[in-house]
Amino acid sequence: MTARIRPAGAAGTFQADYNGPPMADPPPLLDVRHLTTVFDGPSGALVAVEDVNLRIGPRETVALVGESGSGKSVTALSILRLIEPPGRIAAGEIRFRGRDLRSLGEEEMRQVRGREIGLVFQEPARALNPVFTIGAQVAEAFEVHRLATGREARDRAVEMLAAVGIPNAADRARDYPHQLSGGLLQRAAIAAALACRPALVVADEPTSALDQDLQAQVLDLLAGLRASFGLSMLLITHDLDVASRVSDRVAVMYSGRIVEEGPSRLVLGVPAHPYTAALIAASPKGVPGRFHALEGSVPPLGSQGPGCAFAPRCVRAAPDCQARPPGTAPLDAGHTVACHHPERVVNG
Ligand SMILES: Nc1ncnc2c1ncn2[C@@H]1O[C@H](COP(=O)(O)OP(=O)(O)OP(=O)(O)O)[C@@H](O)[C@H]1O
Ligand SMILES: [Mg+2]
Repeated sequence: MTARIRPAGAAGTFQADYNGPPMADPPPLLDVRHLTTVFDGPSGALVAVEDVNLRIGPRETVALVGESGSGKSVTALSILRLIEPPGRIAAGEIRFRGRDLRSLGEEEMRQVRGREIGLVFQEPARALNPVFTIGAQVAEAFEVHRLATGREARDRAVEMLAAVGIPNAADRARDYPHQLSGGLLQRAAIAAALACRPALVVADEPTSALDQDLQAQVLDLLAGLRASFGLSMLLITHDLDVASRVSDRVAVMYSGRIVEEGPSRLVLGVPAHPYTAALIAASPKGVPGRFHALEGSVPPLGSQGPGCAFAPRCVRAAPDCQARPPGTAPLDAGHTVACHHPERVVNG
């Protein structure tokens, strides 16, 4: 099929007689290619993240899911270049707005963090300094990135605290972190992360330290901010219910690799990788929280054989699975799977 774009300003939309080259999707905001992160140890380098490819488009939310130890946080920290020795990024590119973040100097990288990519952690206390008021910390974000100073920075901090739903923001701005409840503290941490209007937010289990009601509130907040600020988001979660509610796409990680990736409705609705299907089976619908009752566990780093890392736990494992690792192949438009025996399973 072909299409023609009308001249700028003309009414109407695409027409079906364009003969030029195929129109590409908008370039991704974040394009991670072949990322490999290792931890050096006495017996060599342990591979925590291996050959990860991940794209996040403008205004898109991608959920990264998988069991504990699968490499989700290491992936997020690698993207932000926050991996510390003995860890290191061994290979790959992290293209953000077209630049490879791996090639930036530490000072440039500090400007990217906070200004262009915001970070929200599971523990808000990790993001906030106990000896400064929350208002001062949000104001500092404006000052560090030279967006506002003094009185203006303080006023904008109060606006930001109000925007994340903190009641009586002008008063609460004078509170220290220990004076806030867990839910308000996470809202304050989100205010600090979003103060400079970053294009991308990386949120690593932002709600799992909160009780269930607060989890829902903070997720609604993130979804609302995402719409009003036009944010892209990498949301790391154990909770498939959260992933299906909030994300456009889902990437499933197992043992350092992305084993399935695609539109949420396909990955969670008709999963093709047996690991995705097992995770869904272990997460009863409507019951928030961590997966449970999935037999076996993620293999310790360095213990994998030559084949597929999931083979020892896999109901579909065949001799080829033990012999060689599966490559990643497309199933449908934008839906990929790394499995020798992919098979769509209808969920529900
Ligand atoms: N500082 C470190 N030194 C050595 N190994 C590490 C370090 N940090 C992470 N790892 C290893 O890297 C692997 C991936 O860890 P990661 O923290 O990314 O898992 P995760 O998917 O975020 O798990 P969780 O859901 O529990 O947060 C694990 O095997 C972990 O033990
Ligand atoms: Mg983690």
